[in-house]
Amino acid sequence: IRSTIRFLLNDEAVEISDLKPDETLLDWLRLRRSLRGTKEGCAEGDCGACTVLVGRLAGDGLVYESVNACIRFLASLDGCHVVTVEHLKGQNGRLHPVQQAMVDFHGSQCGFCTPGFVMSLYGLWMREPWPSEAAIEKALQGNLCRCTGYDAIVKAAKAISE
Ligand code: FES
Ligand code: FES
Repeated sequence: IRSTIRFLLNDEAVEISDLKPDETLLDWLRLRRSLRGTKEGCAEGDCGACTVLVGRLAGDGLVYESVNACIRFLASLDGCHVVTVEHLKGQNGRLHPVQQAMVDFHGSQCGFCTPGFVMSLYGLWMREPWPSEAAIEKALQGNLCRCTGYDAIVKAAKAISE
């Protein structure tokens, strides 16, 4: 493990030299950066409430994958681009189309799981602007919602590309 790491957090270049080997990305985001849109549910990689995107250089570009921040160590992020739900807000506070679709199709009730679903769908939308239903279901398989049910969320996901 390097003693100093550098990565991009949303639009901000970050350098961390006081690395703790067991510090998770989720704790760092919420406790040290006050980015609390990324939620802590199970804290063991099962619920998806803590989903963020992590981009890595591959070939000529960055490839993004959805990551459970609760089980991702901060120390592993050197050279990456970390994207949190706060990054999706547009100018004048406008919602990103993924967020707007969740509103329009009533894909959120208590809202605790919603940032995680939004980030999984945002990652899918970046990779595949016109995903199949199977691709949508695969993208959401790591996100759990205990109160809305999944139909509305899948309808929102389909509407993003229409
Ligand atoms: Fe549940 Fe991270 S908090 S997967
Ligand atoms: Fe409540 Fe999903 S909206 S857990």
